[in-house]
Amino acid sequence: MKVSAEARTAGAWTPARDLPVAGNGQHRAPDVEPSWVRGDCRSFVARPDTGRSTDNLRIGFTVWKPGGGFCDRSCRHCSAATASVRQAVGVPHSRFSCSFRRMIVADHYLVTGAAGFIGSHLCERLLADGHHVRGVDRFSPYYDRAAKEANLALSRTCDTFELLEADLAKTDMGALLADVDGVFHLAAQPGVRASWGEGFVDYVHDNVVATQKLLEALCGQRIPLVLASSSSVYGDAENLPVSEVGAGLLPVSPYGLTKLAIEHLARIYVAQHGVHAVALRYFTVYGPRQRPDMAFTRFVRAALAGETLRILGDGEQSRDFSFVADVVEATIAALGAPAGRVYNIGGGEPTTLNAVLATIAGLVDRPVTVAREAQALGDVRHTWADTTRARRELGWAPRTCLRDGLAAQVAWLSSGEQSPALNAFDPVTAS
Ligand SMILES: NC(=O)c1ccc[n+]([C@@H]2O[C@H](COP(=O)([O-])OP(=O)(O)OC[C@H]3O[C@@H](n4cnc5c(N)ncnc54)[C@H](O)[C@@H]3O)[C@@H](O)[C@H]2O)c1
Repeated sequence: MKVSAEARTAGAWTPARDLPVAGNGQHRAPDVEPSWVRGDCRSFVARPDTGRSTDNLRIGFTVWKPGGGFCDRSCRHCSAATASVRQAVGVPHSRFSCSFRRMIVADHYLVTGAAGFIGSHLCERLLADGHHVRGVDRFSPYYDRAAKEANLALSRTCDTFELLEADLAKTDMGALLADVDGVFHLAAQPGVRASWGEGFVDYVHDNVVATQKLLEALCGQRIPLVLASSSSVYGDAENLPVSEVGAGLLPVSPYGLTKLAIEHLARIYVAQHGVHAVALRYFTVYGPRQRPDMAFTRFVRAALAGETLRILGDGEQSRDFSFVADVVEATIAALGAPAGRVYNIGGGEPTTLNAVLATIAGLVDRPVTVAREAQALGDVRHTWADTTRARRELGWAPRTCLRDGLAAQVAWLSSGEQSPALNAFDPVTAS
């Protein structure tokens, strides 16, 4: 695994919790100036001159345009950059806000499944916030490696990112976890349909065995872990919206069973070994880079090509769709949650597939033709997340409505680009 020499000399792997704390309880600000920038205002991280740092801190400056200056839109990156630069040129420490303090402290995170749909967006978001990211991915053949390489393209341009190609179930966990402040565990064999029959063995390996190895390695480490579970653990829930408390956990697919198994593993390691683990039950995630096997990607591709869309079932099944940027936001917020907690992460309201199709037809501006096929085994009829707990305890709420999120996904799929930054389609600012 490669950690750049520059990163080492800059003390880049100093954990945030060891940083000096000023009298008012906030981390002391280092004396630094931004010395180089790269990327554009939508994409990347600029760093300060660490040579002048007195505290061995690294500061992540989100974004300047390559030629200098801020972007002319007041996107969240530019506001963050403005705040960063103000700090660098000497705004008194007493005026730092809490959120700003969080932003300037560079932590080091391990992201498993870094080349995947959600993992790659998470890596970019952490890098853009000035953190260091160690990604691990085995490039499982569930879908094309080229798509995963494309997902990683932007992160790979940042030298605060490193990627290890390895199978979590087999790799040396000690090296992977060295100097890490937090772990986001997204690696998995996803998808319901392939989890039947011969395919199940991959689900046991990638989901259960790999997670158990990670939990085992975290014993006695005091490193917080957020792990990706799924709405599939509920199966066909009787009462909707479904909440974390009181709902039956009766998955109807082997995939759902493996996700429930990792939640139980986490619970056991929290109780017996003091591992600090939190599980998030993601509800159908969509947006740019969505996996090629998932419904929206297949629908939009077919609609753009003027082909017939294959719908499994009558189209009246509904899902609580969650936009990927919202899911990333929740995932980061969950790192500070109490050990053993489980949270639903959903978009907030259910939508039928037929309604999705109508929205897609509007976005591609042409009628879509549909062929209906039998509903797949293991697909639940309806999902709908009660997100009260996440809203209350994580201070998180979904921000992206389905139409805006779908517009971002349509834009991605029509652009022909393999892996645009999510912000290139930021529906919050673009709509
Ligand atoms: N996408 C969704 O709608 C959704 C919904 C609920 C839960 N989830 C969960 O979120 C996580 C991410 O899902 P995604 O849609 O981004 O999937 P993805 O397939 O795009 O990403 C998963 C990545 O994990 C890697 N991986 C698998 N096994 C590995 C192993 N043993 N070692 C190292 N890397 C390994 C794969 O190569 C892949 O790149 C998964 O845990 C999934 O179960 C996703």
